[in-house]
Amino acid sequence: MQRLRGKVALVTGAGRRKGLGEAICRRLLAEGAKVVVSDIGAPAANLAADRIGTNAEMQAVVDDLRRGGGEVIACTLDVRDEAQVESAVATAVAEFGALDILVNNAGIGFLMEPLIEMPKDRWQTVLEVNLMGAFLCSKHAARRMIAQGNGGRIVNIASVAAKSGSMHLAAYAASKHGMVGLTRSAALELGAHRITVNAVCPNHVTTGLGALQNEYRSKQRGQTVDEYLAEMRGRIPLGRVGLAEDTAKAVAFLCSDEAQYVTGEAMNVSGGQEMH
Ligand SMILES: NC(=O)c1ccc[n+]([C@@H]2O[C@H](COP(=O)([O-])OP(=O)(O)OC[C@H]3O[C@@H](n4cnc5c(N)ncnc54)[C@H](O)[C@@H]3O)[C@@H](O)[C@H]2O)c1
Repeated sequence: MQRLRGKVALVTGAGRRKGLGEAICRRLLAEGAKVVVSDIGAPAANLAADRIGTNAEMQAVVDDLRRGGGEVIACTLDVRDEAQVESAVATAVAEFGALDILVNNAGIGFLMEPLIEMPKDRWQTVLEVNLMGAFLCSKHAARRMIAQGNGGRIVNIASVAAKSGSMHLAAYAASKHGMVGLTRSAALELGAHRITVNAVCPNHVTTGLGALQNEYRSKQRGQTVDEYLAEMRGRIPLGRVGLAEDTAKAVAFLCSDEAQYVTGEAMNVSGGQEMH
């Protein structure tokens, strides 16, 4: 399927191997889009180095994607930095001539701790990356899409934690709930420009981030990771955890013409685990 032929996409937080972002980029490329893979590039002072995509890892992801065919470049982008956001939009336009699709995928979900122990700066970091970052990227991508006059697509990668609470992930769940509010408000404001804004809400996928959550939660329950995952599968009507490709397929659909009348939605991709 080449539903996105000629479209230009910017995907944030996509520079880690086996991440949802990588799978989203692979799918958009397969459907004919030109893709700007972006990620923070280097660990910021208050973030653990092994949990953040480096420029070297992003380049390896881009090299891999290129082998699959299609036009793809790497771009360093800390979504908390408005000047870098503006510059990433400019890079997409300079390299590929336009910006038609934004996927707000950058996110931090590895800062897990009980609410009553959570330091304020960690709350702030999660909200800044997951929610403010999506706002800043949406703002500048939408400005460009409006100027182009051809409509556009914004897809926010939220989570089932955007619909229900999540133990020891209060900041994460608050940021993802907020992302749904951002999605609906932006859909109202941008509809007149034929820009659709939707969120995708995946359940657990064993990415780098997902694996860290598994380790934390299984330890907390005195289980092995395998026991914890087996229990999780038992709670999912379709009987398995999510795959990065499940989310990538939903994103491609929302970016395609087939979804031209869908906006302001927060679509669960959770095997039936979340139904609200
Ligand atoms: N894995 C899951 O189970 C799951 C479930 C639901 C939603 N999600 C969401 O999917 C998205 C991708 O997560 P993932 O599981 O692939 O994890 P991941 O850790 O592989 O991806 C997150 C990416 O965000 C990047 N990032 C962090 N801070 C950034 C910043 N300031 N600027 C730009 N990029 C930054 C990281 O470098 C990393 O590449 C996240 O928004 C996450 O909340 C994941």
